Amino acid sequence: MASNSNKPTAGRPLYHIFTRIPDRYDLINHVITLGMDSGWRRQTALTCLKDSPGRLLDLCCGTGDLAITIARLARQTPEITGADYSQPMLEKAAAKAASARLGNIRFINADVAKLPFPDAHFDCIAISFAFRNLTYNNPRTADYLNEILRVLKPDGRFVIVESSQPKSALMRFLDHLYLKLWVFPTGYLISRDRESYRYLAESAQHFYSAEEMQEYLLKAGFKQATAKRLFFGAAAIYTAVK
Ligand SMILES: C[S@@+](CC[C@H](N)C(=O)[O-])C[C@H]1O[C@@H](n2cnc3c(N)ncnc32)[C@H](O)[C@@H]1O
Repeated sequence: MASNSNKPTAGRPLYHIFTRIPDRYDLINHVITLGMDSGWRRQTALTCLKDSPGRLLDLCCGTGDLAITIARLARQTPEITGADYSQPMLEKAAAKAASARLGNIRFINADVAKLPFPDAHFDCIAISFAFRNLTYNNPRTADYLNEILRVLKPDGRFVIVESSQPKSALMRFLDHLYLKLWVFPTGYLISRDRESYRYLAESAQHFYSAEEMQEYLLKAGFKQATAKRLFFGAAAIYTAVK
């Protein structure tokens, strides 16, 4: 069930983008990633489930796809929490989990800047396609990273799937063309929301490469950071250890 513990306040960059989500939000994700997003979330879920974590957090869970994929693939029944500050997203997530009859996921309204969990609570924290939102030109990045480190157990894993930069100059050129000529116009045409899909294409084009992300995570306080490139490096799965 989705609960509403936080009220919208100032100091929440991008909040307006994620509360006016279109009805066809999930469909748009599939179309703009040419159907690859589901497979990438599945690989991310399997990475999260290594070492059979007992307590997992899907941070910035959106409509819940990663939490639901983790619940479906888990051999044991871990305790899964999905957290997001957008109530419309959480409502869709809760409805999807209920129709899939997955009782071990709870969805809660929370801002990453102030997570309502005790210190060292989670064995694994995962974030799919939202780390960029927390770190790209975002003035609250330090607060977010401090909170993630606080609620993760020592030796716990932070697993991120995010857009990245292909290594080869040709693939990077094609990736940026795809962002401009496919992601932005298609997202805009289906949703009619120009600002959101312009932000998505622009931030993805300028976001970190895999090497930069690993360095970034180490500087943020994680003791290890590895990367697995997806689709020529257009995206990557990162695993960082606290
Ligand atoms: C691009 S969506 C990704 C959603 C989902 N993880 C997925 O894979 O489709 C980004 C999500 O991050 C959430 N978000 C962004 N900043 C946040 C913050 N500071 N606290 C909580 N949620 C946040 C948004 O509400 C949105 O649901």
